[in-house]
Amino acid sequence: MSLVAIVSGATKLAVSIIGLGTKLWFLPTFLAAFAYYHYDLFDPENRPINVKEVLPKYDFVIIGGGTAGAVLANRLTEVQNFNVLLLEAGGDEPEIADVPILSIYLHRSQIDWKYRTQPQASACQAMVDKRCCWTRGKVLGGSSVLNTMLYIRGNRRDFDLWESLGNPGWGYDEVLPYFKKSEDQRNPYLANNTKYHGTGGYLTVQDAPWNTPLGIALVQAGVEMGYEHRDINGEKQTGFALFQYNMRRGYRCSSAKAFLRPVRLRKNIHIAMWSHVTKVLIDPNTKRAFGVEFIRGGKKQVVLASREVILSAGAIGTPHLLMLSGVGPAEHLRQKKIPVIHDAPGVGQNLQDHIAIGGIAFQIDYPVSVLIDRFMNLNNALRYAVQGDGPLTSNIGLETVGFISTKYANQTDDWPDIEFMMTATTTSSDGGTQTRKAHCITQKFYDEYFAPINKRDTFGIFPMILRPKSRGYIKLRTNDPMDYPLIYHNYLTHPDDVRVMREGVKAAIAVGETASMKRFGTRFYRKVVPGCNGYEFFTDEYWECVIRQYTMTIYHMSGTAKMGPADDPFAVVDHELKVHGIQGLRVIDASIMPTITSGNINAPVYMIAEKGADIIKELWKSTKKERKRRGVISNNSTNIKKRHGSKARKNSQ
Ligand SMILES: Cc1cc2nc3c(=O)[nH]c(=O)nc-3n(C[C@H](O)[C@H](O)[C@H](O)COP(=O)(O)OP(=O)(O)OC[C@H]3O[C@@H](n4cnc5c(N)ncnc54)[C@H](O)[C@@H]3O)c2cc1C
Ligand SMILES: *[C@@H]1O[C@H](CO)[C@@H](O)[C@H](O)[C@H]1NC(C)=O
Ligand SMILES: *[C@@H]1O[C@H](CO)[C@@H](O)[C@H](O)[C@H]1NC(C)=O
Repeated sequence: MSLVAIVSGATKLAVSIIGLGTKLWFLPTFLAAFAYYHYDLFDPENRPINVKEVLPKYDFVIIGGGTAGAVLANRLTEVQNFNVLLLEAGGDEPEIADVPILSIYLHRSQIDWKYRTQPQASACQAMVDKRCCWTRGKVLGGSSVLNTMLYIRGNRRDFDLWESLGNPGWGYDEVLPYFKKSEDQRNPYLANNTKYHGTGGYLTVQDAPWNTPLGIALVQAGVEMGYEHRDINGEKQTGFALFQYNMRRGYRCSSAKAFLRPVRLRKNIHIAMWSHVTKVLIDPNTKRAFGVEFIRGGKKQVVLASREVILSAGAIGTPHLLMLSGVGPAEHLRQKKIPVIHDAPGVGQNLQDHIAIGGIAFQIDYPVSVLIDRFMNLNNALRYAVQGDGPLTSNIGLETVGFISTKYANQTDDWPDIEFMMTATTTSSDGGTQTRKAHCITQKFYDEYFAPINKRDTFGIFPMILRPKSRGYIKLRTNDPMDYPLIYHNYLTHPDDVRVMREGVKAAIAVGETASMKRFGTRFYRKVVPGCNGYEFFTDEYWECVIRQYTMTIYHMSGTAKMGPADDPFAVVDHELKVHGIQGLRVIDASIMPTITSGNINAPVYMIAEKGADIIKELWKSTKKERKRRGVISNNSTNIKKRHGSKARKNSQ
């Protein structure tokens, strides 16, 4: 490896960090070590290529290079005579995103869209302006570049439910092969269970290279409480386990790294970064999508799609673009002066997310927690850079998962209603710097609640409700595509959600009472949550109040362009992910979930994209006659030229 490469690696890293606006004392040493041993330099696959010029026309244009978009770009270009353009608003992944422990520093950085919800009284009362902060990836790889890499498939009943709602082909038995298709399971014991796990796929799944003693103790605590220690991505879900992660040798394995880097040299794949899509072009007469309008380098451009346009802009970007393109609730579009092409009342509705309660903390007597100050040193940086293990591979302390059923769930069934995300940290572990900012907690709330345990040894349990009944929505602020839409989370507006969350807190506190945890001197942090002083401690009313203060999003926005049959007026796409009422347009991302899955949703999004890619390939590999029979028409190139020839030629110059 040449000195030039090392220096340029170090410079690039420095630039990316400065760009992220972090001020970390340890970074100079870390940077040197990291650059010296940088994995990228050995990586034969290296970085995706950002095309200089976009061609006038492609077979497929994919909007959004996130979790789903990257999979689609890869799978569609496996067919040599398809050519594909992937448009992404952000740029390539910064090196800092590779380091698991630093993921919290990516929030509110340049690669975050930095959405804020509208202020609502039902939740997020501890946040600045009472608005939750919704981090979303604006980068190649999308939210898989900022997430905590937890790999969880959800429950078989989630998918059986999708099927029962009128979506043939989406039951568990039919989607399982698509989970396995992506997977490269690195744990030999799990991999041996070939009924549930795959090896050799693009997406690496591995165990944590390093854990604190709290990780396994929390699994033991679950066993003590009567839960099985099991593979939660296997036959059954209820139980406790150490997390499985989308990591590769201790580095992040984002969708861009997994699916785009290995195919960067394919002739039929074009990736255009820094391309902000403003509209899908749909012929109002034939109601067929024929192209995409986007802004790149300050210039508005048009690209045509002869077969299909695929929306993979995520659960906020996708409904936003549909509405800007004239597909959405007609009345709302008219108000915003957007010509209605198709009245689709479900666009932007059915917004679902997983929330947990922040601040459920336990103090301990041993120096074992993941404290930034404890672990950020030269030794650990070197260990990380050279061996890909050690504390810097910690996903900000997220080590153990538990799936439990509260009294509101069917006890004889394996369909838990609460997930515990258990961490060897709490919000106070970094002294109120980065985590507080990422979650938009007010300084006042932090000082009152967390300051007494600043940088102390603690662990945390985030009880997360798996199938909330509350539904939010997204609508346009204006018809300017650069204006963010308005987001109404509606968290905890359904009383059942409050009940389940309340039971979740009680069960979390019980984990701290087990002998396995008492060994560490564990005691629940009994500080009254600011804003809830009027309630008697430990009563249901008190917990209800607590839930509405530090309401923590787990960043699982979904459902805003839901899949369902044509007779469901709120369904936006059919079971082949085609937009109802429009030809040549599909949605393939987290938006299509009719109901949110029972677990972190990144793995299901990979599955949706894998299955979607197969549906598309199957259609376009069929004969013209067969397609005609199915009512599919291709864009006739002469028509396209008539309508958009001059613009299309312009971008190729
Ligand atoms: C902080 C955080 C932590 C998370 N942790 C986990 C976890 O540990 N485990 C888990 O399973 N899930 C986790 N998630 C959720 C998971 O990562 C997302 O649900 C998943 O990545 C969504 O995939 P997607 O393809 O639907 O959207 P995204 O991956 O968000 O991709 C959408 C892409 O479209 C682009 N785009 C949007 N609008 C436009 C436009 N107008 N023009 C061009 N491009 C556009 C975006 O820039 C983005 O690249 C987390 C998410 C976040 C943000
Ligand atoms: C793999 O599974 C087979 C039977 O299914 C078993 O005999 C073998 O011991 C297993 N190997 C490992 C490493 O678990
Ligand atoms: C609970 O789950 C069991 C097992 O799946 C099922 O047979 C039963 O009908 C369920 N009960 C209710 C009330 O849904």
